[in-house]
Amino acid sequence: TPIAILISGRGSNMRALIESCARPDYPARIALVLSNNPDAPGLEVARDAGLATQAIDHRDYPRDRPAHERALDAALRAAGVEYVCLAGYMRLLTPFLTTAWAGRMLNIHPSLLPAYPGLHTHERALESGARIHGCTVHWVTEGMDEGPIIGQAAVPILAGDTPDVLGARVLRQEHRLYPAALHRVLVPDGAPAATASDYLLSV
Ligand code: GRF
Repeated sequence: TPIAILISGRGSNMRALIESCARPDYPARIALVLSNNPDAPGLEVARDAGLATQAIDHRDYPRDRPAHERALDAALRAAGVEYVCLAGYMRLLTPFLTTAWAGRMLNIHPSLLPAYPGLHTHERALESGARIHGCTVHWVTEGMDEGPIIGQAAVPILAGDTPDVLGARVLRQEHRLYPAALHRVLVPDGAPAATASDYLLSV
């Protein structure tokens, strides 16, 4: 299945998906890595992996989010993409894109949704006094970080954690969760529901 990955930054989740897609038995191949930020470090990672990349700079569409999204949509269609994985894509989407790709666009978020939508999730989890934190892969809908949940991975919050330490623990699980959740979407009966591991993963 041809997929696109949308990034804005370093692209470590993209890298995890690249590694999975390189396995012959994995049900997706990456048709395009697309960024709103021409300087995203992840674009270079993708190019080095031999993938097609494209940058469509939102700053070229001042005060015209719909026009930027039409350009993204055209690039996705031109590449023959069937599913879109947002992976650290830091622009809010309008109903144009969320509708056009409804049921075919996934996002990864660094919290156990519905807790902590939005930014600064690790700080907020620490401040809350919660003992468990994690990450979520969900369908993209119009509301930010609101769509139906596909899978989650949980990590403990440990004494002495800082946002950075906790964030790194969550990120390791993001890299397991995203490929597992995408697999689950593409081959609903193809793999046993994962509840593996060092920390709990459920897709
Ligand atoms: C991840 O924490 C992801 O959950 C969030 O943005 C971050 C992106 O990191 N949406 P990376 O670019 O994949 O390394």
